Amino acid sequence: MVNNMERRPATEIFSEWAEKGRDEGMESGHAPSVEAMLELALPKVEPDFLAIDVGCGNGWVCRKLKKHNDCKNVVGIDGSDAMISKANSIDSSGDYIHADLPEWKPSRKFDLIHSMEFLYYLTNPLNMLETFHKEWLTDGGILVAGVDYYLENKKSHDWPDALNVHMTQLGIDEWKNGMIEAGFSDVEIHQVGKKEGFIGTLVMIGRR
Ligand SMILES: C[S@@+](CC[C@H](N)C(=O)[O-])C[C@H]1O[C@@H](n2cnc3c(N)ncnc32)[C@H](O)[C@@H]1O
Repeated sequence: MVNNMERRPATEIFSEWAEKGRDEGMESGHAPSVEAMLELALPKVEPDFLAIDVGCGNGWVCRKLKKHNDCKNVVGIDGSDAMISKANSIDSSGDYIHADLPEWKPSRKFDLIHSMEFLYYLTNPLNMLETFHKEWLTDGGILVAGVDYYLENKKSHDWPDALNVHMTQLGIDEWKNGMIEAGFSDVEIHQVGKKEGFIGTLVMIGRR
């Protein structure tokens, strides 16, 4: 077992991935789950919504949301400089921010927060849920977040050692209670994108 003190920052690893073009494989790998997450979340959001994709990688979900008729604007934020450079090079008119979380604070609130495969890189992801609820969302705003690394997905358990990166392992009930304790209402938990050998992306949805 590798000591947590020696773990590499996730953002450094993902910058290497962006430089090697591995962001594209991640995009196609995550697309079926993100598709299902947006199908669940978008009907709950009011028209003319302002969205943010947290841990946006190369920004592909931002560009997808931007095409939605009811989306007024979308911001992407990621702590990897190479991912954000890539996002800007694909879409120079996009609003992509290079910053580390949980330190970065938005200057305005959002009607939709989307996040795919980001939360568990944080030391305390449940605090991030609380911050989303208290500081980032408009009244009635929606959070939809997906994670593939979780207690019940046993196949994911070796990822922290394989990548030498910190990941916070929580179970379905801990995520659900974390959403409720953060103050979200209408909390829903789903497992989407199931296929042979994969029990699905764990998706949490809640309203402020
Ligand atoms: C598994 S990738 C997912 C990227 C994108 N959501 C997707 O589905 O293709 C995780 C992303 O979270 C970013 N990330 C991890 N920890 C972060 C932190 N503390 N602050 C900001 N971004 C972070 C990484 O740089 C990386 O781009």
